[in-house]
Amino acid sequence: MNFYELVSKRFSCRKFKEVPVEKEKILKCIESARLAPSACNSQPWRFVVIDEPELKNRIAKVATSGIYGIINKFLPTAPCIILVLADREKFIAQAGAYVMKTDYYLIDIGIACEHLVLQATELGLGTCYIGYFNEKEIRKILNIPKKYKIVLLIAIGYPDEKEKEKKLKGSKQRRKVEEILYFNDFK
Ligand SMILES: Cc1cc2nc3c(=O)[nH]c(=O)nc-3n(C[C@H](O)[C@H](O)[C@H](O)COP(=O)(O)O)c2cc1C
Repeated sequence: MNFYELVSKRFSCRKFKEVPVEKEKILKCIESARLAPSACNSQPWRFVVIDEPELKNRIAKVATSGIYGIINKFLPTAPCIILVLADREKFIAQAGAYVMKTDYYLIDIGIACEHLVLQATELGLGTCYIGYFNEKEIRKILNIPKKYKIVLLIAIGYPDEKEKEKKLKGSKQRRKVEEILYFNDFK
């Protein structure tokens, strides 16, 4: 599979098979994330893999409690949830971020996570980024220290076959290249 095929194959999987994910595959995904570039090589990411079923169900339940359940009702069906944490001290310390008024740590986390999900895709796994979740309640369960922010959750598991077929059948809903690309000007 070449790179373009790989990125075309990734989709947001919102229905999973009831099959656990092998630890080696999770480790491979984290290894690919670990190699990501980051501003000043700050590597602000930490990954907390939640695959113990009882704990996973508890996390999924609180993550989607109240208003957070509106769009993410599917989360409990994922056999594994990866919490993506950012080290706040690392990003506050970046002078460049202050000057540029750019939250580089979010860019860093985004790059690392995309490495992770593309690696997962190559391994036949489905993933879905979850940016809308009850962070406060997850923090409480895991006693996450203040200096870490939970930036994202990644639901990961083997995709339901029908879901996969449906998602890969049509072309992705994306802006046309003419709408996003400029050569040598910006009009
Ligand atoms: C930072 C980020 C946060 C996202 N949060 C959610 C979310 O909370 N719930 C959800 O179902 N999908 C979420 N998504 C998935 C997007 O909706 C999805 O990537 C987009 O619609 C394109 O579809 P595709 O991933 O299938 O190509 C998120 C994606 C990103 C990159």
